[in-house]
Amino acid sequence: MQKMLIKGGTPLNGTVRVQGAKNAALPVMASAILLKGQALELDNVPDLQDVRTMAELLQRLGAEVSFTDGRMKISVPEDLEWNTPADLVRKMRASSLVLGPLTARCGKTVLPLPGGCAIGSRPIDFHIKALRAMGARISLRNGAVYAETDGRLKGANVAFDFPSVGATENIMMAAALADGSTTIENAACEPEIVNLANVLRGMGVPIFGDGTPAMRIMGQNFLKSSRASVVPDRIEAATYLVGGVISGGKVKVEGIEPQMLAAALQKLEEAGAKLTLEPDSITAEYAGKLSAVSIKTMPHPGFPTDAQPQFMALLSIADGTSVIQEGIFESRLRHVPEFNKTGTKIAVQENTAVIEGVPEIKGAEMFATDLRAGAAMILLGIAAEGVSKVGNLDHVWRGYEDIIGKLNSLGAKIKLIEE
Ligand code: UD1
Repeated sequence: MQKMLIKGGTPLNGTVRVQGAKNAALPVMASAILLKGQALELDNVPDLQDVRTMAELLQRLGAEVSFTDGRMKISVPEDLEWNTPADLVRKMRASSLVLGPLTARCGKTVLPLPGGCAIGSRPIDFHIKALRAMGARISLRNGAVYAETDGRLKGANVAFDFPSVGATENIMMAAALADGSTTIENAACEPEIVNLANVLRGMGVPIFGDGTPAMRIMGQNFLKSSRASVVPDRIEAATYLVGGVISGGKVKVEGIEPQMLAAALQKLEEAGAKLTLEPDSITAEYAGKLSAVSIKTMPHPGFPTDAQPQFMALLSIADGTSVIQEGIFESRLRHVPEFNKTGTKIAVQENTAVIEGVPEIKGAEMFATDLRAGAAMILLGIAAEGVSKVGNLDHVWRGYEDIIGKLNSLGAKIKLIEE
């Protein structure tokens, strides 16, 4: 097994440039399915395992995909395969993002229930209910979703019980090719939703209200070629900023507007970090002391669940007792036993973690339980005295481009080993 060997105890100092957001690139790539004999060109696409999986999925459906130096071109033929490849779909939870566009474009699809991070059951019932409201017939058989429609999907008024990011994206894409207009109530407001809306607008779809809980999408008969850029990865940025502070150093992340990360930055400041905000960069510096903070993860613009494990790592060495409540996923605290191997004192009760800050932590061997937890374990290894190992790195490769190169450029001592 590949592992990271981390020699801890050195502060991170310096500047890194943020990658394009994984969670924006995946839905935007899926939106190319809506095209016929047209192409989508994208800049700032991160080179990540999940992005490569989505590219392969699109290729297996019949699209041509080229990808070099962050630029991707997806050329889509008139005819596209509607049956999705089970091996790829099972690899990645975000494969469910092809359900809406394939149903709208091909009139039918089969999607095996997707895999992904082990952070809860992660159902797709909101996606299915909304597609049914748009006229799709959907059944669940043999571990797969079968969707079918007579002719085009129809615009509908959709209201989500919870502002699901993936369901909002799926329905935005389905609505783009539907007959008539669709409204979404309780839509997710994440910056990645606004990115997708901008891409769909570029294809000729009028969309109103993206970035707010009430959206309207005017369906079109035909979507045209378009070019767009992937927004910066706010979670990658948060990971490196926490890395600077947890290690007692100072890290500047370039290429991101502070507003995208407002809730997380507020918590970083409350914990005692010194922040310098510029229009296109964020700097976080350890200012001599860390204090306990309470956090509840929430839909955007609340504190992002994807930054929860990294902040838990930070608070584990802060003065006092912090409380973190996971408000999005039902089992996203599985990393706690791994963290505690370093000497952190974290107790979990249901969806709440109580973190009693300790003055120092020691190197340990940890195994990534999911993508962001894996990143947080690497940060713990950097902050700990002695040597740490982090295994199950496949989770980490799904979401961080050149993480070892970036961290080592800031002064970390990380090597990849085979054990
Ligand atoms: C996306 C992100 C993920 C992030 C999450 C929340 C991508 C590729 N992934 O995941 O990194 O952690 O948003 O910010 O963008 N739910 C249902 N039924 C549904 C859909 C969702 O019950 O049909 C529940 C989920 O189980 C979860 C909550 O709603 O408890 C939020 O999930 P959702 O916003 O859909 O997350 P994803 O889109 O899967």
